[in-house]
Amino acid sequence: MKIGIIGTGYVGLTTGTCLAELGHDVTCVDNDPKKLEKLQAGKSPIFEPGLEELMAKNSQAGRLTFTADIKPVIAASEVIFICVNTPPKKDGHADLKYVEHVAREIAEGINGEYKVIVDKSTVPVKTAEKVYETIKRYSRPDAQFDVVSNPEFLKEGTAVQDTLEPDRIVIGVDSKRAEAVMLACYQPLIDKTHAPVKITSVKSAELIKHGANTFLATKISFANLIAQTCEAVGADALEVLEAIGLDERIGSQFLKPGIGFGGSCFPKDIAAYKKTLEVLDLNPDFIEAIEALNEEARNRFIHKIEKELWVLDGKRIAVLGLTFKPNTDDIRNAPALTIIKKLQLDGAKIITYDPQGMGNAQQELSDIEYATDPYDAIKSAEALVICTEWDEFKKLDLDKIKSLMATPIIFDGRNIFNPKQMAEKGIKYFGVGR
Ligand code: UDX
Ligand code: UDX
Repeated sequence: MKIGIIGTGYVGLTTGTCLAELGHDVTCVDNDPKKLEKLQAGKSPIFEPGLEELMAKNSQAGRLTFTADIKPVIAASEVIFICVNTPPKKDGHADLKYVEHVAREIAEGINGEYKVIVDKSTVPVKTAEKVYETIKRYSRPDAQFDVVSNPEFLKEGTAVQDTLEPDRIVIGVDSKRAEAVMLACYQPLIDKTHAPVKITSVKSAELIKHGANTFLATKISFANLIAQTCEAVGADALEVLEAIGLDERIGSQFLKPGIGFGGSCFPKDIAAYKKTLEVLDLNPDFIEAIEALNEEARNRFIHKIEKELWVLDGKRIAVLGLTFKPNTDDIRNAPALTIIKKLQLDGAKIITYDPQGMGNAQQELSDIEYATDPYDAIKSAEALVICTEWDEFKKLDLDKIKSLMATPIIFDGRNIFNPKQMAEKGIKYFGVGR
């Protein structure tokens, strides 16, 4: 099938590349010239394991191209995926200006042929209705199209795998014609993986995405609440949560306590869902509790550092990890940024290292030193703060850490080390909930 992808961020680029891998003829559109230049040179603008290789393979096979020119792509494509960003507004509502902008561009490009417009971006329920109205308003009177919701469930760091081996495929359609087109689009993936396909109404599909992300965020905030309780009574959160997670009804994933969830999705999606509830005159307290616990996770960790180090002014603190989680270069809403900025306010001198995040961090952080490797960061530090659980950090040599640091104190926001082992080594250690 001929497919157009509008927006080549984490979502669009992964979706487009994977659809090309399934054999479709995919053209990706983006209005950012810098991004396009990279893409056309075969480079991925983001760090996502396996993506660049798959891009190269499919570009060489002639199934994947990149352009800034949206109109011909709309005219040529049978299915058009909207994958532009939906950032949060100051009040928490999802900002849908890019979605509306693209809807208008699509409207102008529609020719006499039937088109399926797919909302892939995470949007509040009933956005598809608005997209439909917008396209109707700005397109030729005889335009034939349907608007479909087909949420993605990819996680950064495993985006390719999540797309090519999905837990489920959700297709929200209100017309049989669109359903047939969407099934044809996903048939190669369904044949290959036998992934369950849920055909729902458009509104249900939109809610599934916000619902799933809210539930996952709930699990994390719950884990952080258990961690607080454990700290208060001297229990071990990892033992408690592991045993809780062994109940199949609960499951062990997304029960890791730490410094709270970040990234471009959970914070903005639960804020947008909260706004949906408010607009519908429903009770938003539940979401507020998740958000409050998430903020507390960062704040309590910062307080732990402040309490132990007492005066931070002039102290050299090494921070390992800047990205919101490992295996990505994404620093959007990363806990590390909040923590670093607060320590800097206290007067601390921060030296940091991250395997992928330092480039992006340069636009966000100031007065900070970037190290060439973890040991370089740790050298002469009066404390080590771990904000992201990169594998590289888990393998660090504890004896070397101890000998390099001015005072061996570790604040481990992701529980990558074992408190007992730390005690044996004579390193003062603070995990979360342990
Ligand atoms: C974002 C959201 O985080 C996610 O929740 C949503 O489902 C999809 O959008 P992401 O892919 O990470 O995901 O966004 P981003 O990396 O910002 O990429 C969006 C792309 O769209 C950018 O490359 C931007 O240049 C492009 N864009 C934006 C257009 O091509 N046209 C526009 O009008 C607006
Ligand atoms: C998320 C959803 O998982 C995905 O399905 C959706 O499509 C997009 O949003 P992503 O934001 O890429 O994906 O990252 P995810 O792996 O979900 O992690 C989000 C945050 O939660 C990270 O900051 C991570 O450190 C944190 N987290 C995750 C915890 O603190 N504890 C956990 O147990 C799991």
